[in-house]
Amino acid sequence: MSTPIPIRRPRRLRINNAIRNLVRETRLDADDLIQPMFIVPGSGIRKPVASMPGVCQVSVDQAVEDARKAMALGVGGVILFGIPASKDALGSDAWSEVGIVQQAIRAMRNALPDMAILADTCLCEYTDHGHCGPVRGGGIANDETLELLGRTAIAQARAGADIVAPSGMMDGMVAAIREALDSEGFERVSILSYAVKYASAYYGPFRDAAENTPSFGDRRSYQMDPANRREAMTEAQLDIDEGADMLMVKPGLAYMDILGALRQTTDLPLAIYSVSGEYAMIKAAAERGWIDEQRVVMETLTGFKRAGADLILTYHATQAAAWLTTAK
Ligand code: PBG
Ligand code: ZN
Repeated sequence: MSTPIPIRRPRRLRINNAIRNLVRETRLDADDLIQPMFIVPGSGIRKPVASMPGVCQVSVDQAVEDARKAMALGVGGVILFGIPASKDALGSDAWSEVGIVQQAIRAMRNALPDMAILADTCLCEYTDHGHCGPVRGGGIANDETLELLGRTAIAQARAGADIVAPSGMMDGMVAAIREALDSEGFERVSILSYAVKYASAYYGPFRDAAENTPSFGDRRSYQMDPANRREAMTEAQLDIDEGADMLMVKPGLAYMDILGALRQTTDLPLAIYSVSGEYAMIKAAAERGWIDEQRVVMETLTGFKRAGADLILTYHATQAAAWLTTAK
């Protein structure tokens, strides 16, 4: 019996770089990448986050310089998290006109008028207990949080944010923020909802960076159970109905199936957040020489796009943009 000769030979289209380039289905663009930043009070401050090599808490002046560098490399935008000088039960720095993130937004808007500025809209970096809303009777008060999120979004919009990104997984947060923004004339400000955010151990290093570890309990009464997929569709649909302009899935790698499923059900732009733990794992393995950081990062980012992401929030954004520039 002779060996059958294959008629179909997919390897023909992998034969060299030129052919592979012709048939490549997914491409990475720096302008789809969003760089997260952690803003602290003061000036001239760059305080490394131990569990996230290459990431620093930065004061406003340094943040502007980092943003300038990111823009020069073609990064699509920045998302800002604030660590205030003082925290309280309601997280009042989040919506203060002179709150830490509002200061950063103003400075960036001034220095880089055309840059897309996103603000994380949540209270957990600003509350003394570290939860995403006020604590009432041992739980997190949903509807009271909505009012505070509305105020926060308005303060961020007033400072110059283009996009507010509520991340607290409160029921009704998108509708409340939309109404608040519109009541102040900020119809042009978009909402990128962290619609599908799981209660994840991958947020570990972020809690060092943002100093928002809950002082008691955890976030499982508001963030989603990692085991649930149908519920993700419900969460996404609610946020669409409430007027979200874009939806986010978070974390990234372990939830690509959710992103893929959402891609089938909505035509809204989709974002994925490759979170702190994903970054830390890549960095740690790369530091040991166990993986090639650049190749693993590019492969991972390509995977997000292939799964359906339009935007990717990643701590590697500026670095990846630099790699993309040298690759060209
Ligand atoms: C806070 C918030 C978190 C992240 C983004 N916004 C942490 C959390 O919910 O505990 C996680 C980002 C990351 O881990 O990179 N609402
Ligand atoms: Zn939060």
